[in-house]
Amino acid sequence: MAKKPLNIGMIGYGFMGKAHTNAWTTANRFFELEHQPVLKAICARNADAAQTFADNWGYESVETDWKALVARDDIDAVDVCVPNNLHKDIAIACAEAGKMVLCEKPLAINAQDGEVMCQAIEKAGVPNMVWYNYRRIPAVTFAKHIIDTGDLGKVFHYRANFLQDWTISSDLPQGGAALWRLDAKAAGSGVTGDLLAHCIDTAIWLNGSISNVSAMTETFVKERMHNETGKVEPVGIDDACAFLCRFDNGSLGVFESTRYARGHKALYTFEINCEHGSLRWDLHDLNRLEYFSHRDEGTVRGWRSIHVSDGDHPYLGNWWVPGLCLGYEHSFVHQVADFLKSLETGEPAGPTFRDALETQKVCDAVLASGKSGSWTNV
Ligand SMILES: NC(=O)c1ccc[n+]([C@@H]2O[C@H](COP(=O)([O-])OP(=O)(O)OC[C@H]3O[C@@H](n4cnc5c(N)ncnc54)[C@H](O)[C@@H]3O)[C@@H](O)[C@H]2O)c1
Repeated sequence: MAKKPLNIGMIGYGFMGKAHTNAWTTANRFFELEHQPVLKAICARNADAAQTFADNWGYESVETDWKALVARDDIDAVDVCVPNNLHKDIAIACAEAGKMVLCEKPLAINAQDGEVMCQAIEKAGVPNMVWYNYRRIPAVTFAKHIIDTGDLGKVFHYRANFLQDWTISSDLPQGGAALWRLDAKAAGSGVTGDLLAHCIDTAIWLNGSISNVSAMTETFVKERMHNETGKVEPVGIDDACAFLCRFDNGSLGVFESTRYARGHKALYTFEINCEHGSLRWDLHDLNRLEYFSHRDEGTVRGWRSIHVSDGDHPYLGNWWVPGLCLGYEHSFVHQVADFLKSLETGEPAGPTFRDALETQKVCDAVLASGKSGSWTNV
């Protein structure tokens, strides 16, 4: 049967522009889907660089203004891979133009903007999704399957870390194309929106809503040269953030993120401790899920290290023979496959904008608590 073309317009060709383009071109080769993504247009402000990207990755055309891309009749879905402060205007314009929108995380720079985006998307009734891709690393998806059986019993604790070390030097400037993450105007926040947002999305997905938080944040380097103004300016982002929280199910959460953990490049880990067992996962060993079951016979009871690579593990039946590994990039391929499947079934692929708004609200509460020093309701 002929596939239905789905014309993609991508905005931004940096780290995520590549990860997503790879996913749009790969999903159909491994998953049975009715739609065939077509790389219609890439948008970036520099025409030459955009053309080079288009030639390398197979886009049919180039735009240098995102508004022109959104206005095109031949674009069905817009993929938003630009800094956080641009998500809102682009997503709303897409909704008004009746386009499907796939937006990078965090949804917005704050929950207020996120709410406006949700309203626009819901009013337009367009399919939408936010790229919290860690949900679709098979070992993480498998953790969700195990938790959802209820076999682990009552949940007591959830803890997660996301540790990096790339901003320790005070000589590093802020702002501009390469360092927008250090500029509060472009990023909205520091590690809270960039890294903890991933941990919070996974946590809510696995363990339900978070009701209140108590946070501490720190900006270790208070001033940095700004790449756009050439002046030394105050740093407005959080360099590190740790918070405690309560989940609606009564369990307690502990989260930590920093870009000052010397030796750690992207150490995302989570652990959940329940009445009958525990699970833990580590991005550096992403194909493994560690599982302790208290129901195992006592003398052999211990942590199992499950290599999530068998044909009946999530997504794996569509890939190589059992025992072979997948990587970071496959999480995006799975997200595209699930999005395309959702167009067939009419069942939204999460996280939707509305789901991602919940994470945004937790981020806002964390930042507010970090400022006030008080417990803050989400
Ligand atoms: N899901 C994940 O794991 C993950 C990982 C990294 C980044 N992100 C998110 O993806 C988004 C992009 O991050 P990145 O790491 O790809 O950044 P990046 O700096 O690598 O790329 C950003 C791109 O946006 C383009 N851009 C900036 N302003 C533009 C404008 N006005 N019009 C058109 N293009 C413009 C830049 O030219 C660049 O190509 C951010 O929201 C970030 O939080 C998500």
